[in-house]
Amino acid sequence: MRIGEANFELPFSSAVRNPQPAMFMTRVLKPIVFVASLGPAAWLIWAALTGNLSANPLSDLTNETGVWTLRFLCITLAITPLRRLSGWNAVIKFRRMAGLFAFFYGTLHFLTYVIADRFAGLDFPDGFVAWSTVRHLAKSVGEDIYKRPFITVGFTAWSTLVPLAATSTVGMIRRLGGKRWNQLHRLVYATACLGVLHYWWLVKADVRRPITYGAVVAALLAFRIYKARARAAAPAPAR
Ligand code: HEM
Repeated sequence: MRIGEANFELPFSSAVRNPQPAMFMTRVLKPIVFVASLGPAAWLIWAALTGNLSANPLSDLTNETGVWTLRFLCITLAITPLRRLSGWNAVIKFRRMAGLFAFFYGTLHFLTYVIADRFAGLDFPDGFVAWSTVRHLAKSVGEDIYKRPFITVGFTAWSTLVPLAATSTVGMIRRLGGKRWNQLHRLVYATACLGVLHYWWLVKADVRRPITYGAVVAALLAFRIYKARARAAAPAPAR
């Protein structure tokens, strides 16, 4: 059933066998969840435009988008345990959306860092729009990734999301095959661990929030280890 799990757009779930709930899921629930997931970004844009952020708005934008990346990673990892524990198979239809929103917020986070932390500190000898600006910006980002370990870890975490987002389509699942696709998408476990480490590393005093996210990620990964061990220990089905 692993391919069914990966290829959740194909008719594997109970909801698809029963057309009414399947229609409710695709026509009503999915658009609601999609719009709700855009809520944090919309709120941030509204708060930035109306001056409702703190005295350091760029830092607020970086921090908020970072936290939402981690939240969407946790939601993505929570879907399989929720499905197994509740028997609500159709919930798997939300996993790709949650993963893509983790990538969306992660990319916003990276871009706000590039603008707020790097671009803002550059000199512009040839003006804003010039090749020298692009070169200096790339150099500044590269050096920072190399020099500051928490940035190295954050960048590595974001980089692992790129192949996951790029292979999230049904066409890519077919092209890679279920087994290889599943193996590749286990990278998300590393993304979540690196995301927590990045958070933990950058917090100077109160580490309660990164510890909380660390505990959530640990519990979600422990569930998978437990299930994998239980599967390995189960007797093979008689032929
Ligand atoms: C999956 C990838 C990532 C996750 C989950 C993540 C998560 C976070 C979180 C939770 C915060 C702290 C928010 C707070 O204090 O309220 C944060 C802050 C930050 N992140 Fe990331 N991040 C990721 C990738 C990146 C990348 C790629 C960069 C830059 C290359 C980056 C640079 C920063 C910076 C500069 C801060 C602010 C640090 C400060 O307050 O001084 N992060 N990130």
